[in-house]
Amino acid sequence: MAKSKPSGRKTVARNAIAAPSTARALRSASVASARPDAKQPASPAAKSGASLHPGSLLSVTQLTLQDVNQILALAADLEIQPVQPRAQRLLKRRVSLLFYESSTRTRTSFELAAKSLGADTVLVSALSSSIEKGESLKDTGLTLRALGAECIILRHPSSGAPYLLAQATQLPILNAGDGIHEHPSQALLDLRTILTRRLGAKHARSVTAQTLAGMTVTIVGDIFHSRVARSNALLLPMLGARVVFCGPEPLLPEAAAAIGPGITIERNLDRALAQSDVVMMLRIQKERLAGLKLDLEEYTTRYQLDAARLATHAPKALVLHPGPIIRGMEITSEVADGAQSAIEEQVHHGVAIRMALLARALETPATSANKTKITAKPVKKNTK
Ligand code: NCD
Repeated sequence: MAKSKPSGRKTVARNAIAAPSTARALRSASVASARPDAKQPASPAAKSGASLHPGSLLSVTQLTLQDVNQILALAADLEIQPVQPRAQRLLKRRVSLLFYESSTRTRTSFELAAKSLGADTVLVSALSSSIEKGESLKDTGLTLRALGAECIILRHPSSGAPYLLAQATQLPILNAGDGIHEHPSQALLDLRTILTRRLGAKHARSVTAQTLAGMTVTIVGDIFHSRVARSNALLLPMLGARVVFCGPEPLLPEAAAAIGPGITIERNLDRALAQSDVVMMLRIQKERLAGLKLDLEEYTTRYQLDAARLATHAPKALVLHPGPIIRGMEITSEVADGAQSAIEEQVHHGVAIRMALLARALETPATSANKTKITAKPVKKNTK
């Protein structure tokens, strides 16, 4: 277990709801299953007894298999719907994109998704707003609500920030990446990519707890800091997939396997590749390595996915990467642009998934009866 605190991403400030840092989550060896029939880990909101707008998506642990099905089916329907009727769906509804961190794929695809459904969007980014003058997340959220925002898409460097915003505004909040906690829409678009490429388009609209049974998805690299790894590792086993984490000790503490069921650790990339149907490469963020003992040259030798390695150990595996890609570091250009790569398809699937999440967010009424009261559930001990 790496002892250093992740450098680049903080946990949310004092008055915030208890934040779920991956560091803490990894330390806890008793995180429960994300399967709908299994006990769920207590979410940050659980600790505060907060209620969420039912259209919010803050963590994949909120989703049942039925929810995942509905999102996939809606994404498939919206994707093929003619442009004109689709643009009536959320006509003139107001969606705010509140981005405290830079983003290309996530921000653009949420924006395009909202516009495709006819919504009006407004982007507020940290460098061009009162955030720069020190305004709190709560006050920024209340301001957006007063201006008519009906849904806020939030990216924030602090784990748990979306819970604070959800509680303060009572609006549907879509988590577009919070610190080292979660990135649920990314995991859903990764799932849609895997289903489409490995099983065919018809499986991308309806899934069961067995759909990915027998499939191994290996996630390679900076697991410790990755909200993408965490959301995928919680979502994919709900459908029966096995998840293998691969990376060196400083970026992948032993305790990471306890994030959920169906996760194992394999430190040798060649051995991990040999068992993989899907391999997801993650970027190494040099800016977050302070305090961690990591020789980047050695890392590249041991963990870079190059064409020879892929051809030898996983000639049929699908290659994914959430981006941004650092060519020549974790992946070579030959692999990123090669036939096994579905990296651009991931980006493409992001629009359909985010249309579905926005429709869900804005069409689910927030009556007190259906408001999701998040209650702490007993935590299942991981027996590993
Ligand atoms: C990731 C993110 O921001 O969490 N990218 C993404 O949203 N597609 C991964 C990263 O930052 O490395």
